[in-house]
Amino acid sequence: MISKTVGKYSKKVKDKYLKTVLDFNKKELVMHFNKGNKKLVNQIMQDWEKPYMKELATIATSKGGSVLEVGFGMGISAGFIQSVKKMKSHVVVECHPLVIASAKKKFPAAIKSERLKILKGFWEDVTKNLPDKSFDGILFDSCPLDKEVEFFQFFPFFKEAHRLLKDDGVFTYFSDEPKTISAEHKALLKKAGFKDIKFKVCAVNPPKDCIYWKHKTIVAPIIRK
Ligand SMILES: C[S@@+](CC[C@H](N)C(=O)[O-])C[C@H]1O[C@@H](n2cnc3c(N)ncnc32)[C@H](O)[C@@H]1O
Repeated sequence: MISKTVGKYSKKVKDKYLKTVLDFNKKELVMHFNKGNKKLVNQIMQDWEKPYMKELATIATSKGGSVLEVGFGMGISAGFIQSVKKMKSHVVVECHPLVIASAKKKFPAAIKSERLKILKGFWEDVTKNLPDKSFDGILFDSCPLDKEVEFFQFFPFFKEAHRLLKDDGVFTYFSDEPKTISAEHKALLKKAGFKDIKFKVCAVNPPKDCIYWKHKTIVAPIIRK
């Protein structure tokens, strides 16, 4: 049963996120925030997700051509996407300035050759400027912007994914589902216009200190029109 809030972020939440201090290391990307007097840390991304990110990148690049990725994070999925030869153009939408700076450091050659383009901003403000049916593959992996506002943050993107995807394209995303795509989740994909809903179950091994994933598997969606 999906119990988290589904919706769009306010300007206040977005502005606050852009000023949030993020910490990167090889194992994880975290954000610092205050709750009353308490200083808390929220995990955005951890490196145990590598096999899952590889699976999502494999799905998103399966048609080659042009790939849209939302959320750069640690650049793990971006690295897998870049390594696929038949992938010709990779557009990343990322909002946080520190993440964008790290992306520029990580992929200077790909950015110079325009095999990787970074569009700065929230997808909610940026992707509407991209033409209909312009991508062969889409990988969506954003994160809740505020610990107090937990969305299934990909739900509001489904309609936009359908608009941006070519008729024979494929859409995938961090699913927040351990074993299957639940009926409620599937209904939202169908409402957005997707008819072909498949998935793979990917084995993962999150460490005990991982707050956002406690399962040994996670669903990699394979969604087509
Ligand atoms: C979980 S990380 C992405 C991890 C990435 N797939 C990887 O392999 O490292 C989420 C990223 O999405 C970005 N993000 C969150 N909400 C966003 C939004 N609405 N628009 C664009 N980027 C967003 C965050 O700043 C963060 O860099």
